[in-house]
Amino acid sequence: MLNFTRCQHLKQITQKCFSSVPVIVRTHTQRLLSRAFAYAGSGKSWRSIHSLVGDKNIILMGPPGAGKTTVGRIIGHKLGRCVIDVDDDILEKTWKMSASEKLQDVGNEQFLEEEGKAVLNLSASGSVISLSGSNPMHDASMWHLKKNGIVVYLDVPLVDIISRLKSLKAGRIVGQNSGASLRDLLRHTRLYYKKWYDTRVFCESGASAEEVADRVLDAVKRYQDVDSETFISTRHVCPKDLDKKPPPKYFSEAVIEGLASDGGLFVPEKELPKLSCGEWKNLIGATYIERAQILLERCIHPADIPATKLGEMIETAYGDNFACSKIAPVRHLSGNQFILELFYGPTGSFKDLSLQLMPHIFAYCIPPSCNYVILVATAGDTGSAVLNGFSHLSKSDKQRTAVVTFFPENGVSSFQKAQIIGSQRENGWAIGVRSDFDFCQTAIKKIFNDSDFTGFLTVEYGTVLSSANSINWARLLPQVVYHASAYLDLVSQGFISFGSPVDVCIPTGNFGNMLAAVYAKMMGIPIRKFICASNQNHVLTDFIKTGHYDLRDRKLAPTFSPSIDILKSSNLERHLYLMANKDGQLMANLFNQLESQLHFQIEKMLVQKLQEDFVADWCSEGECLAAISSTYNTAGYILDPHTAVAKVVADRMKDKTCPVIISSTAHYSKFAPAILQALKIKELNQTSSSQLYLLGSYNALPPPHEALLERMKHQGKMDYQVCAADVNALKSHVEKLIQNQFIRKSE
Ligand SMILES: *Cc1c(COP(=O)(O)O)cnc(C)c1O
Ligand SMILES: *[C@@H]1O[C@H](CO)[C@@H](O)[C@H](O)[C@H]1NC(C)=O
Ligand SMILES: *[C@@H]1O[C@H](CO)[C@@H](O)[C@H](O)[C@H]1NC(C)=O
Ligand SMILES: *[C@@H]1O[C@H](CO)[C@@H](O)[C@H](O)[C@H]1NC(C)=O
Repeated sequence: MLNFTRCQHLKQITQKCFSSVPVIVRTHTQRLLSRAFAYAGSGKSWRSIHSLVGDKNIILMGPPGAGKTTVGRIIGHKLGRCVIDVDDDILEKTWKMSASEKLQDVGNEQFLEEEGKAVLNLSASGSVISLSGSNPMHDASMWHLKKNGIVVYLDVPLVDIISRLKSLKAGRIVGQNSGASLRDLLRHTRLYYKKWYDTRVFCESGASAEEVADRVLDAVKRYQDVDSETFISTRHVCPKDLDKKPPPKYFSEAVIEGLASDGGLFVPEKELPKLSCGEWKNLIGATYIERAQILLERCIHPADIPATKLGEMIETAYGDNFACSKIAPVRHLSGNQFILELFYGPTGSFKDLSLQLMPHIFAYCIPPSCNYVILVATAGDTGSAVLNGFSHLSKSDKQRTAVVTFFPENGVSSFQKAQIIGSQRENGWAIGVRSDFDFCQTAIKKIFNDSDFTGFLTVEYGTVLSSANSINWARLLPQVVYHASAYLDLVSQGFISFGSPVDVCIPTGNFGNMLAAVYAKMMGIPIRKFICASNQNHVLTDFIKTGHYDLRDRKLAPTFSPSIDILKSSNLERHLYLMANKDGQLMANLFNQLESQLHFQIEKMLVQKLQEDFVADWCSEGECLAAISSTYNTAGYILDPHTAVAKVVADRMKDKTCPVIISSTAHYSKFAPAILQALKIKELNQTSSSQLYLLGSYNALPPPHEALLERMKHQGKMDYQVCAADVNALKSHVEKLIQNQFIRKSE
């Protein structure tokens, strides 16, 4: 057995490093060594990482040319740890020949097998291990290594690797003799890397080995620091007695609980991580799925969801379920306006972008011993998107996760209603409430806050209530990705260069989409102005213009854009919290006042701060239809009414010096009657389905939404329940459904 216990061989290996690396690396290494000592002297940083990692190995994995060997040596010196290079220290010694000679000798299959066996023989602790490019293709040896190590994936963009390998004389790459192109080989091995890594370092073009080593240490530190990324309520108030401070919540708790117990919303205690310019640039050529993986694994601690698991969820969510392989493409409309098309998901609205992913996250987070019922209030689009999203869970997850959707019986379009009802599945129901959306939303909040009722459900049925509304952190987070992705697409299509600003214009209801754009900026996307577009229900416009959030004398007016017919914009609280320097007491005061007095006013300083980034305006019904008509006539493009609201507001902006990305939040076919009216198409007396076919025959952009057409065509009359505008009636529906879903099954 090769036994590398901590630093037994340090001296020997150090000598070896210095004799085999090029001079330039050596000087780097020496400089780093002195830095490491300086750190050790100041008693901070690298020493603390030493104690964090303990006896675990730091294992560097990545394609040939990623710099594993060099980076491994640098880290070994910094931490005063043994460095084991699988190629040099194990394979060559075992085989008494170089790996490339061995590969020539025995061929791919046997090479992998023997390589794996040699690694299985390795027993090391507290070391830095640089894997070979092909180690990850041998399962047993990787399991062996992972038992006592943290696998760090040095993820280098393919183009960089290929150019590096050209300048290095590519020594040995398994499969190279098969005739496959280097690119294909690297793509293939990448699948293995994705299977094993614990944490990833996204290596920027031109980053020095020294920089990469620092990033590896940061990544390891984050990985080990499992308590570092926690959540608190926007209404948290620091108690005078610090011992009484409520413990922070982990990601999974925030996801499961939805709403904080004090009525506030969960927010991360630290700001979201900022990507470096080089990391963003690496993402310019990446797919939507790759972008989502990189961004979301930065925001979700691996102790909450391991990065590889998260990656699988993302692949499932944004795979075949979307009608466009780009998932969320950007289209140039005219002038400085671009349309971010967020409607290619299965239910035709942007809600799919988060709700195809969120259920997988949710099912992963919930404890196995409980059943969960998701309560949703919907103004139209959420309901079908939630029902659809949760219906894609695995069979076993569906047996313990169900959805109840409440929608305003007369507050959604007939198409939306048909869609919500038609989206009911084995684990999901829709219930019409004889009131408006705000009632539904408030009623749900009351149900969550009713500990007698929730306690009863837990004791009686082993069932816990949760929310999938746009206040849920796991719904908000996936939305950050499309804002970033849209920007990257504008760069990759050559409309802007990386770093130049854009505006975003968003038809806003509960402020989730908008807040996700704010978070995208926090992570490094240079958004200049956030343009908040409303319809006649313009409480947000008034608030952003005056700082006065006033619901007195405001009645909800039904409009052509029902999904933004909203009075209480819940995610606004998260943004105000940020603006007010995380003042939980202020949030508690403001939103309690809104509850009791139906209005609040924020102070002038805060209004000014809000207006630095935000612009708001609203559009009348007539203007909305006119925009649909004129856009169709001039650009051959049909806007849905929500997108039209945003377009009208974007048109009014005076400063058009930078591109504006308009969020197109729904496919127009969900709102066919409004479109027919806008385009003055007279045949109003038709079924929803024939309206869709009629609109489809205009050959306009965007193309018809096939999944919606299919569903309308086949939709039988499904049953649904209707209930009175009374919280107790909603509760008894919930209980009845729990009895049906979970009790019968377990008996
Ligand atoms: C939900 C929805 C909105 C509002 O989004 P928020 O994130 O709540 O502001 C806008 N348009 C459509 C079509 C929607 O479904
Ligand atoms: C494993 O280690 C033992 C003892 O050192 C040695 O005899 C054996 O050949 C090694 N096996 C491999 C596959 O390297
Ligand atoms: C939550 O319930 C408590 C009492 O149980 C009550 O004082 C509080 O006002 C409720 N909050 C909301 C938002 O309903
Ligand atoms: C619509 O069609 C139905 C039957 O197809 C008919 O009974 C009804 O009168 C029509 N309504 C209008 C406004 O044309």
